[in-house]
Amino acid sequence: MSGRRAETLQKVAEAIADHVKDGALLGLGSGSTVAALLPILVRELKRNKVQRATWVPTSMQIQLEAERLHLQLAPLGRARVDLVVDGADQVDADLNLIKGGGGALLKEKVLLSNSRRSIIVADARKFAVRLCEDGVKVPVETSPFARVPVAKAIQEMGGEAHLRLDQRGFPLYTENGNLLLDVLFEPLKNPAKVEREVRSIPGVAEVGVFTVSPLEVFKLEDSGYALLRKR
Ligand code: A5P
Repeated sequence: MSGRRAETLQKVAEAIADHVKDGALLGLGSGSTVAALLPILVRELKRNKVQRATWVPTSMQIQLEAERLHLQLAPLGRARVDLVVDGADQVDADLNLIKGGGGALLKEKVLLSNSRRSIIVADARKFAVRLCEDGVKVPVETSPFARVPVAKAIQEMGGEAHLRLDQRGFPLYTENGNLLLDVLFEPLKNPAKVEREVRSIPGVAEVGVFTVSPLEVFKLEDSGYALLRKR
């Protein structure tokens, strides 16, 4: 990590840690941004005398990072978390998101929808006017047996679904035993409608369009960050 990025993440961690109380239940999204921020945030929380936080991970990837730091963990779904920190693949002008590049979208959406305070941290290069600009695809988690009808229904909505494969060309299964379709759409005029319609296709477990609110978004810039709020 470059010195400048570390400095920016330090400032973000300070801003997040400011409002966290001792004993808080904290949600952890997945991905490289959360993984880079986590040790800095943990250090900052300790400095603020938050000694007894419990963390809810959304994937084995981030759970392993949390284990490395000897954090106390709790499973998803027991209680509403006080705060969740997550990343994003794309952020639009209204602070709607595309998530799921790491395949953790189902747990991430459950966590973000059951949090008192939701925070997204994303590099400035991930911001666009509309979701799906620059060919960014929308991940859709689907039951394996619904793969074909789901892809067909998405096609009827104007999307082009590609089954996500690993580096050897094998289908990639999520931690929930599902498959992922990465869908190419024209830039989205109405993300909430796409989120609703794709999720209503039988067999779809979750869609990577996130219109959740309220939301605080830390946009990481070359020198520092900008804090954007969605009400
Ligand atoms: C995980 O499935 C995703 O939703 C991540 O939060 C998203 O892909 C951002 O990841 P990076 O922080 O690695 O870019």
